[in-house]
Amino acid sequence: MRDSESKNVFWQRNPVSREDRESRRGHRGCVLWFTGLSASGKSTLAMQVEQRLFEEGYFTYVLDGDNVRQGLSADLAFSPEDRTENIRRIGEVAKLFAEAGAIVATAFISPYRRDRDRVRRLMSREEDFIEVHVSCPIEECERRDPKGLYRRARAGEIPDFTGIDAPYEPPEAAELVVETQGREVEECVEEIVSFLRQRSYIRPEPASRPSAARQ
Ligand code: ADX
Repeated sequence: MRDSESKNVFWQRNPVSREDRESRRGHRGCVLWFTGLSASGKSTLAMQVEQRLFEEGYFTYVLDGDNVRQGLSADLAFSPEDRTENIRRIGEVAKLFAEAGAIVATAFISPYRRDRDRVRRLMSREEDFIEVHVSCPIEECERRDPKGLYRRARAGEIPDFTGIDAPYEPPEAAELVVETQGREVEECVEEIVSFLRQRSYIRPEPASRPSAARQ
């Protein structure tokens, strides 16, 4: 007996299929899973990709670490166990968005390879999970330090800070590696949107007239 059955819960099938949703919207659902150090550029890229896709008429939404940690994961801190639970929750939410036909962009450090791989396996289609390694040397992240967190972590005020006294495990086979040091945001965004185009997640050509009507 499956665990869910032992709890007397049973999967209910939606009357509208994912394929129906996708064909109406004219693009595929998927999860762009940004991973990288704090200040590597995950949120900036995720937000800019969202903006760009929205302008082209796609259904898209960002799940961002700092935001989710004020709500869905407000009860979690930064121990390995809490980070694992954080990523598990986001993975489940991202999956629901993808099933609803959205291009979801998630911006979480997600430092553990095992946690990211678990999310990958959770997806109903293999191609749903697009791991994007936002790669930036820690020295550069520390120099940027937009929230002053590296400085405080170095001063011993923030324990278990990723890259300082907590690990970051880079992906070994990410679908995309985006270097952010010394590059314009727009160039990085283009790289990601081109990937989506080449792999047919979105239409082959940019919309001639930006339209948000499909949202
Ligand atoms: S994750 O490890 O569970 O994926 P998440 O992306 O949700 O982390 O949150 C990271 C954000 O929390 C950082 O951008 C930073 O603003 C804040 N933060 C606070 N404490 C820590 C810490 N110890 N390590 C990393 N980030 C922290």
